[in-house]
Amino acid sequence: MKKGNVRCIFSILVCLLLGAKVYHMHAHQHDYSKEIETLLSRMTLEEKIGQMNQVNFDSLSDELLQQVENGEIGSFLNVTDPKVINILQKAAEKSKHKIPLIIARDVIHGYKTIFPVPLGQAASFEPAIAETGARIAAVEASEHGIKWTFAPMIDIARDARWGRIAESLGEDPFLSSLMGEAMVKGFQGRDLTAPTAIAACAKHFVGYGAAEGGRDYNSTSITPYALRNTYLVPFQKAIDAGVLTVMTSFNDNDGIPSSGNKYLLKEILRKEMRFSGLIVSDWNSVGEMITHGFAVDGKDAARLAASAGLNMEMNTGLYVKYLKRLVEEGRISISDIDASVRYILNVKFCLGLFDNRYLNISKESAIYSEKHLQAAREAAVKSAILLKNDNHTLPLREIRKIAIIGPMADAPYDQLGTWVFDGEPEHTVTPIGALRDYTEYKDIQFVYEPILRKSTDNDTVNFRKIRQTVETADAAIVFLGEESRLSGEAHSLSDINLIGYQSDLLREVKKVGKPVVTVIMAGRPLTIERDLPYTDALLYCFHPGTMGGPAIWDLLFGRANPSGKLPVTFVREVGQIPLYYNHNNTGRPAPDHAKTLYDKSGEKQSSVGDVSFYLDSGKEPLFPFGYGLSYSEFKYSGLSLSSKKIGMKGSLVISVTLKNTGNMDGTEVVQLYVRDRVGSIIRPVKELKGVQRVNLKAGESKVVRFVLSPDDLSFYGMDMIRKPEPGYYTVWVGGSSNTDLQETFLLE
Ligand code: GLC
Repeated sequence: MKKGNVRCIFSILVCLLLGAKVYHMHAHQHDYSKEIETLLSRMTLEEKIGQMNQVNFDSLSDELLQQVENGEIGSFLNVTDPKVINILQKAAEKSKHKIPLIIARDVIHGYKTIFPVPLGQAASFEPAIAETGARIAAVEASEHGIKWTFAPMIDIARDARWGRIAESLGEDPFLSSLMGEAMVKGFQGRDLTAPTAIAACAKHFVGYGAAEGGRDYNSTSITPYALRNTYLVPFQKAIDAGVLTVMTSFNDNDGIPSSGNKYLLKEILRKEMRFSGLIVSDWNSVGEMITHGFAVDGKDAARLAASAGLNMEMNTGLYVKYLKRLVEEGRISISDIDASVRYILNVKFCLGLFDNRYLNISKESAIYSEKHLQAAREAAVKSAILLKNDNHTLPLREIRKIAIIGPMADAPYDQLGTWVFDGEPEHTVTPIGALRDYTEYKDIQFVYEPILRKSTDNDTVNFRKIRQTVETADAAIVFLGEESRLSGEAHSLSDINLIGYQSDLLREVKKVGKPVVTVIMAGRPLTIERDLPYTDALLYCFHPGTMGGPAIWDLLFGRANPSGKLPVTFVREVGQIPLYYNHNNTGRPAPDHAKTLYDKSGEKQSSVGDVSFYLDSGKEPLFPFGYGLSYSEFKYSGLSLSSKKIGMKGSLVISVTLKNTGNMDGTEVVQLYVRDRVGSIIRPVKELKGVQRVNLKAGESKVVRFVLSPDDLSFYGMDMIRKPEPGYYTVWVGGSSNTDLQETFLLE
């Protein structure tokens, strides 16, 4: 571990040792602490408040440079021109205390080389994919002077109507924790003072994905148990991984907006979770407390946020406008101001900005390097999920000519997905682009007709070309899905069917009678049950990024074998939402594969059910969490436990034999689930507790082992203390959350 990290982590440890004193940390600690206190002692109240002010960059001006020289601004977001950043840093160096600026940007799933959206990366169930993607994003972004990204977004997302599910790592706390931790490590690197290290930001704290109705920014009603047992889990993992910053969320939870929630920030985040980094607000969330009806006016909003322990205020300028007066009026304590400034300075010291604030612009660029593009291609391959493959339609074999149909076959902007500020569509390799430019696919004969110009196109005039296009080919590959603007922030949908006339297009293609392969690129799990009968095979790609084109052909032609698994449940109907695998059992669970009313005509009004399901769509999802097919066949057998009971200091080894009975080498994501049969509060019917990607040659078998410790079973029970509870547990191992292979053990 490099010097920089040791110092930084040590100074954070010093904070932790001081526990509650972290707000009143004094000068007798470690390196940075000494430097921090020295600085602090020399700063005026205005200069301290200036550090708490994050400004959205618009354009350079003398006035702006003067503000920086006066120490009125601590950070900028959304400036990406290295020359401009050096000018701003120069102005900061002219300020009295020479405190460097920290430059931030939303680098969510790539800077220039764009990786699959985070929901897609989560489908790989491979943390290394997320870490590599984040590292590459950091290398590219830091080249332009960005030293802080507002990622990973680790909101648990169980509602496909919510546009930001695309940006999430799915519905499961364990998987979101694994992938979020990997992204933190990727962005921040092994040495925080390295030029390519950028501060990560765990967001949005907290519960933003639980917006009522899946409607962005809407209220949430997360109970204290659900908060700790579900929504905080990925954040604790990110904090344990050393994430330097956290961003508060827009939503109010139970009537309290996060940016003004003192209990959430000071008691839970700081004390309970022992976070000692920087807390920044989301965009206008401080000012929006007025709109929420939580603050009277801007001054009140600044007071609520600062006294709640929000360290840096993004974009509304309310801190710099009101905090001085609030301190003078005794309505904000100077200790709150000092604590905030300590956290901010600590991040700047950790990143080595005091020693290296300027960019070396002339160095050779790594942006779009072959290595980066290859990594993005591998990520897109591993993020794709094979949902249907009747009659072994895939991989494509003995294909002389293919017909390529659909609006997503050559959509360079939309293929990148949401939250792409700096990606460039001209660098996207679409499926059509790959056939044209990639040597491995240049000999493929194809005919291409989009038929619909874009996913929302309602003009079906070109439907008349479908038959003549498809009948000349051996198979039809149909590219459907969502334009990137249909997911992401503020882009929630109440209808998540394939939008526009895409389903009609698929039916028309199927009528021609050739094998049909559908590839969907979308930002969310769509309700595609009605489309399945019209395609022989279906590959689902959550917007796969810059290299999605070659990756898709790698999979369709069998140069790669699909291994992705669903990080989120696919519902049959939008009306089933929320429907997720790790749900409570209820007192009246419907039997598996509960029949719906329409299976039994003539039923009387009082005859159906008495159990928890939908009369029309049953209780099952279309595809469950963790589901995904392969060109190989994987068989599980011989599930065994090292013991039928363990004590609180014991551990359990769970073994299973996995065999690839197919005729292709492949990778299976082996999943370990548990259920605590009885808890002081009800426990979910299944919880993911382990994943392993296992590569097996055709015919090969391997014993796969997991080690489970009692702490892995810990949760906040009735007494709100995190610990495992004794009792019987069921263990499952399989290639999806609906696996039946199970064993039971007793925790004493
Ligand atoms: C946005 C998003 C947040 C982002 C911030 C800065 O509104 O909610 O995720 O990091 O503003 O762009």
